[in-house]
Amino acid sequence: MSDIFDTLVIGAGAAGLFHAARAGEQGLKTCVIDHAAKPAEKVRISGGGRCNFTNIHTAPENFISENPHFAKSALARFTPYDFIERLDRRGITWHEKTLGQLFCDGRSAAIIDMLLDDLRASGGVLRLNTSVVSVEKTAGGFRAVTSGGSVDCRKLVVASGGLSIPKMGATGLAYDIARQFGHAVIPPRPALVPFTFEGRDKDDFASISGVACPVTARNTRARFEEAMLFTHRGLSGPSILQISSYWREGEDVTINLFAGRDAVAELTAFKAAHPMKALATAMEALLPSRLVSLLAARGELPDIPRLADLSHSAIEALVERLSDWTVKPSGTEGWRTAEVTAGGVDTAGLSSKTMESRTVPGLYFIGECVDVTGWLGGYNFQWAWASAHAAAGV
Ligand code: FDA
Repeated sequence: MSDIFDTLVIGAGAAGLFHAARAGEQGLKTCVIDHAAKPAEKVRISGGGRCNFTNIHTAPENFISENPHFAKSALARFTPYDFIERLDRRGITWHEKTLGQLFCDGRSAAIIDMLLDDLRASGGVLRLNTSVVSVEKTAGGFRAVTSGGSVDCRKLVVASGGLSIPKMGATGLAYDIARQFGHAVIPPRPALVPFTFEGRDKDDFASISGVACPVTARNTRARFEEAMLFTHRGLSGPSILQISSYWREGEDVTINLFAGRDAVAELTAFKAAHPMKALATAMEALLPSRLVSLLAARGELPDIPRLADLSHSAIEALVERLSDWTVKPSGTEGWRTAEVTAGGVDTAGLSSKTMESRTVPGLYFIGECVDVTGWLGGYNFQWAWASAHAAAGV
């Protein structure tokens, strides 16, 4: 005997829970299954426990996909303000931290409670500790064989996320189901992830682990002006996480250590005021002192006794070099720490309006498993809500 539902959602994360409640509100008998013991664990830990649940500047340009137009429709039909309205109705207070990033004033658990209450109120069923054994097409829709028995459904919504943080239960199930039904998968890769280094760079960066400074990190595809952090394994911080999503193995990343500042003017003024001081002293007005010492030890600062000995063209050359400070990561910290997965179910096979498979009616993919990856700063949750809403057809 099989349980029968209108909609079966695989994955009780942000996208799956949000979708299931919308489906239930339309009168559809809905079941959500998840192999984890608790729902929406990534919501819980996100944003340092306060969930950066959206970004008010959300626009298609903040997402990476083989098809940059794909996300437009869903994002336009469910905006950050639509999600904010839900929080406001629920009495969940929030604040803007920086760059349009909205966080809960309290714990992210408030959002999970809202998602679960909405699911219950819509008559939806949640089955945790339930793994998927197989999925097959039937005359009336689909049958999923699970560790808790078989479930028949008309509509199968795959919301099982990407591969980041396997310790939290991430699996490639969505990609397996996509391939089983003839969909292409853009090779998944870790994104929003720290860079690692080898050899001298690794030792050097580790020696100033914990030092942070504002930079512009760029490559041929994108540029981000935010903080960078030196770590025991290499480089991290928002600017590095952002550019990592645009990075490919073996490529360089160029860093402007003087982001947003006129370093030539500042060094020139410092030299005029203190000609007998050391260059390092002048540099410490621009950069953290431990970074200045490291740059000196790496031979990246001219070896002159006093600023008076530094010509204007030497100042210009120094600033140019450190504005184009090029590093070559040996890799990334990988799935263990990647905040999201880039790549995923190829959007070419999905309707951008409904997230439904173009070739298998009744099969939907939503959230992170789709080849739509947001920048750091609340964009990935906004994609989860928006794609879940699109698939509900409301
Ligand atoms: P999600 O991964 O949330 O849910 C998938 C669900 O499917 C999980 O519950 C999982 O257990 C289940 N599942 C997986 N495989 C299964 C299987 N084989 N069988 C059954 N169930 C299975 N984004 C953002 O916008 N703002 C933020 O502040 C943060 N912060 C953040 C911090 C950290 C540490 C991480 C790792 C990630 C973030 N993110 C973020 C990214 C954000 O968490 C992510 O994009 C969304 O949770 C994706 O939502 P989904 O519902 O698509 O997948």
